[in-house]
Amino acid sequence: MCGIVGYVNYKLNRSRKYVITTLLDGLARLDYRGYDSTGLLVDGDETDKVLPYKIIGKVAALKQLINDEDVDLKKVYTTHAGIAHTRWAANGVATLQNCHPLRSDVSWRFAIVHNGIVTNYKKLRTQLASEPYQWEGETDTEVAVKLAMHLYDQNAGIGFAELACTLANKLEGAFSLLLKSVHYPGELIAIKKGSPLVIGITSQDTQQMSSLPVSYHPQRFVQNGEAIINSANSTHSVNGTSVSEPSPMWAHEYFFASDPSAIAEHTKRMVFMEDCDIAHVHYGLLDIYSIGSPDEAGYGRPVQTFDHLDGSIPSKGTYAHYMQKEIYEQPEIIEAALKDRLDVESGKIDFQGLGQHMDRIRTCSKISFIACGSSYYACLAMQELFETLTNVTVSIDIASSFLDKLSHISADVAYVFVSQSGETAECLTALQYCQKRGGFTIGIVNVVDSSIARLTHCGLYINAGVEIGVATTKAYTSQLVHLVLLALALGAGNDSTHDRRREITKGLQRLPEQMRRILTLDSSIKELCETKLMHKANMLVLGRGYQYATALEASLKIKEVAYIHCEAVLTGELKHGVLALVDDNFSVVMIATRDRSFERSLNGYEQLLSHGGDPIILCQEGETAFNISNGHCIEVLETVDCLQSVLNIIPLQLMSYWLGVLRNNSVDFPRHVAKSVTVE
Ligand code: F6R
Repeated sequence: MCGIVGYVNYKLNRSRKYVITTLLDGLARLDYRGYDSTGLLVDGDETDKVLPYKIIGKVAALKQLINDEDVDLKKVYTTHAGIAHTRWAANGVATLQNCHPLRSDVSWRFAIVHNGIVTNYKKLRTQLASEPYQWEGETDTEVAVKLAMHLYDQNAGIGFAELACTLANKLEGAFSLLLKSVHYPGELIAIKKGSPLVIGITSQDTQQMSSLPVSYHPQRFVQNGEAIINSANSTHSVNGTSVSEPSPMWAHEYFFASDPSAIAEHTKRMVFMEDCDIAHVHYGLLDIYSIGSPDEAGYGRPVQTFDHLDGSIPSKGTYAHYMQKEIYEQPEIIEAALKDRLDVESGKIDFQGLGQHMDRIRTCSKISFIACGSSYYACLAMQELFETLTNVTVSIDIASSFLDKLSHISADVAYVFVSQSGETAECLTALQYCQKRGGFTIGIVNVVDSSIARLTHCGLYINAGVEIGVATTKAYTSQLVHLVLLALALGAGNDSTHDRRREITKGLQRLPEQMRRILTLDSSIKELCETKLMHKANMLVLGRGYQYATALEASLKIKEVAYIHCEAVLTGELKHGVLALVDDNFSVVMIATRDRSFERSLNGYEQLLSHGGDPIILCQEGETAFNISNGHCIEVLETVDCLQSVLNIIPLQLMSYWLGVLRNNSVDFPRHVAKSVTVE
C-alpha cells in the first residue's frame, strides 16, 4: 500500500542532490498507486544531523518543498544513506505527524519508513510506558522506531544487525521497513515480514560486479574489495534467536524498494528479500540474516538479473488520463494475447510453463479461485464456463473470506490466485496459508516477478502491460480472456464440449475488432452521463447469469471513479426488496444482452417500468424487446455468452470514466484508494 525506497552507498562521491533525486525518482515511480503523503530523510552533515522532509501530498509537492528549502544540494559525501516513503493512510489519518519517516525522538536518533501493520503495537507501547518518551502520534510505526531506540539504550555497544534482529522478533504482523540511525552512520537496515521488499545492487567496479553471486556466494570482502575470508554458512544466536548468516556480498551502491520498478532505472541486479529476512548494509557490505528457521528461510539469497524491468512510467500519450488510455488499449492487448496464446485453427493454447501442469490441474478434485476486488469479479464471470468445460468442481473466494473461514486445504485442489498487482496482501496471506498446508498453487498475475508470481508453484502472466489507473480496466478484460483460455485448455480433449469450445475460440478471434467498435460509443456515453447521470447520488446496475459479474465490476468502477453510490443487483433479486428504492430519481442501468437468461431479464425490466423506473438498457445492437425512445440505450455487439462480459464492460468503464471526469474527480487516482493493496 505504502511505497518504500531506500539508498545507501559506500566510497562513492555522491552529492546530496544525487541521493535526494534517487529517492524522489523512486517514489515518483510508485506515486501513481494513489498515496496521500510523502517524505524522505537523508544524511546530514558530519555531525550526523539528518535532514527530514515531509508533506501531505504527492511526490511533486515533496520535490518542490526540498527545492524551496535552503539545502546544500551540492555537498558531496563518500557514504550516504537515505530512506523515503509514500503513504496511503491505513493506520492514522493523513497528517504530517503520521507521514513517514517517523522518528524515535526530536533529534532523529532512529528513523523509520514502514509499509504494512505491526499488530502488537499497543502491547509494545504499554511495555514502553514507563520510559520518558515523547509520543507524537498513535501509529504502529512510531512504536517500532521508539522500540529501536529503546533497544539501543538498553544494550550498550549493540551492533545494528543484532538490534534489528531483536526488534524484528518483537514486532508481530505483516510489514516491511527500513531503519536508519545516527548511531550507525552509513548503515541501513531492512526488515521484511510479509510485505514486499527488494534490494538493487550496483558497483562501479565491473570486475567485482561480474563476480557478484548469482546464487549464494561464499566469500567475504573487506572494504577495498579484497577477499579475506572464505567462509561457509554459519548459524549463530542473536539474543537467543537462531540467525543464519550467509557470507556477505559487497558492492558500491544498494537500493531498496517495495517494488522493483522504483529502482530499475539504476540497476537490474536484485535480491528479493524473503519473509523474516533482515538485510544489513554496512560499509559496502550486505548481510542477510534470517530470523525464521534456517531451514524454512533457506541460506543465501540469489542476486538475479531482471533485464525486462522498465523503471519508466508510461506516458498518457494523447489521452487526458491513464484510465482513458488503458480503456482504449484493450483491443490491442487482447489481440496480442490471442496471437501469443491461441492457434485458432487447431484450438491449441500455448501457456508455456503452465502448460506442463495442465494434467495435474485436470485431475484435481477442485479448482479454487482466490482473489480480491475486480480480480474476484473476473473469476466470478468465468465460474460457469470452468464448470461446463472441465469436469472439475470450481469454488471462488474473496481472499479475506477464504482466510476468515479457515478453509480446509487439500493436496488435490488447485488454488488459483488471480491478481493484477500480484501483491495484494490477503491473496499473499491466503497463498502462504495454502502452501503451508501442502496446497498446489497457481498464479494468474499481470505484474512480472511480483510476489504472487514468484511464490506460486506455476502460473500465467496476463501481459496487460503497466496499469497506472488505480481503477483497473485493461487488466480486468485481460484476466477475463486468460480465464477463458485456461478453461478452454483444461477442457481440451473432451469430445462432449468440442463444439462449444470451437464456438468460443471463434468468438475470441472476433473480440478485438468488436471491442474497437464498442469504443466508438464513447461520445454517446459521455452525453448520456452529462444529460442523465452526473448529478445522481445513487445508481443500480442490474445483471444476471454471466452478466452479474459485469454488474458488480461496473458498480465498483462507478463507486470508485465517480464517487456515486452504486449497487450491483442480480436482476432476479430486484423484486425481493430492492424495488422499494426505485423512483424516477433513481438511475438504473440494466445489462440485458441476449443469452440464456435474457427472457427472465425482461421480467425485471417490466417490474422496473411498473414502478416508475426509467432504466438505461445495455443490450445487443438492433434489440427490439425494449420500448426505448429516450436515448436510454447502449447497444453493443453480440458474441458468445461467456465472452459477452468482455464487450459489455467497456461502455460501463467509459461511463465510470466520464462520470468521474464530469464530477471533477481524480480519475486516475481516486480518493482513499490505492493500486496495490499491500495491507490487510
Ligand atoms: C478496482 C480494483 C481493485 C483490485 C483489487 C485487487 O478497480 O482495481 O478492486 O481489483 O484491489 O487487486 P489485484 O488484482 O492487484 O490483486
